[in-house]
Amino acid sequence: MHLARFPRRRYTSGETPMERLPRFSQAVGGPDIYIKRDDLLGLTGGGNKTRKLEFLVADALAKGADTLITCGGIQSNHCRLTLSAAVKEGMHCWLVLTEAEPGAYRPDANGNIFLFQLLGAERIKLVGDGVDTWAELSAAAAEATAAGRRPYIIPMGGSNAVGALGYVACAEELMGQCFETGLRLDHVVLAGGSAGTLAGLWLGFGGNRLDVPLTAISVLNPKEKLRDEAREIARAAAELLGAAAAVDEELLTCGDEYIGPGYAQPTPEMIEAVRLLARTEGVLLDPIYTGKAMAGLIDLAHQGVFRPGEKVLFLHTGGVPGLYALTGLFTGS
Ligand SMILES: Cc1ncc(COP(=O)(O)O)c(C=O)c1O
Repeated sequence: MHLARFPRRRYTSGETPMERLPRFSQAVGGPDIYIKRDDLLGLTGGGNKTRKLEFLVADALAKGADTLITCGGIQSNHCRLTLSAAVKEGMHCWLVLTEAEPGAYRPDANGNIFLFQLLGAERIKLVGDGVDTWAELSAAAAEATAAGRRPYIIPMGGSNAVGALGYVACAEELMGQCFETGLRLDHVVLAGGSAGTLAGLWLGFGGNRLDVPLTAISVLNPKEKLRDEAREIARAAAELLGAAAAVDEELLTCGDEYIGPGYAQPTPEMIEAVRLLARTEGVLLDPIYTGKAMAGLIDLAHQGVFRPGEKVLFLHTGGVPGLYALTGLFTGS
């Protein structure tokens, strides 16, 4: 799917590993589980946003921008990685962070908040829950322009058509790795938030006729909303690519059964999943996205949706620095 036509920065040398998880698979019982280590992507701490930012930052640079402006939650992985890309490119970075309740952002907190300080965010604006973040981003861009800057707005999660190209590229990388290793996958499982990762992968699978079913475990929105958003971003990305390819509706299952009390609220199953992978394979997950998605994979294996002997690939989308902001959840047993 003609990705080479788009400007792209490279933040990772080579491909991320695809690894078999024999001890974890045995502990779960049932399918043969593999992991695609996008937690090892480049920029500070790795994770899925690095792939999106390769295309987004290249687009910003091509347009002459010098200031990246984006938004997220107070422990946003996307904001950490956008800031990291800005540092690497010698650009400025302004962040708009949404606090679920006043005072939730503590400047001395660990995890991504610590990294916002260490990487030197030029400006952090805190806004309350329910505030129109797009209006905030636009206002910040107007302010930057008035100050003589050339701003570039990256939407929440880097989830738009340009960002999704990063996961079209990931679909192609994955296909090549399966070809090289002779691995025939039966399912791919990933976490779904602002839907850009899913959109790119879904489009990349369809466009390359890779008919492996995708299961997206929502950690944020009802499953219908995740699917609708992914379809819309994929449609826009296909248009950008000039690809006739549409997504294959049959290929995708979305679930929202593992969100628990709400976005970023811990669940016992998430804690168990994070512990189990750490203690069987030495691989860390994060408490907000991949921990809940892995809890979903384990449950679907136990329900028999993923059958014994089937090969299930978990896309590790990163977020591990967030673990260090919530260590109390995991200590004590
Ligand atoms: C670690 C991690 N995994 C998954 C996601 C979800 O990706 P998307 O927003 O593209 O659905 C995010 C988004 O912030 C993330 O930080």
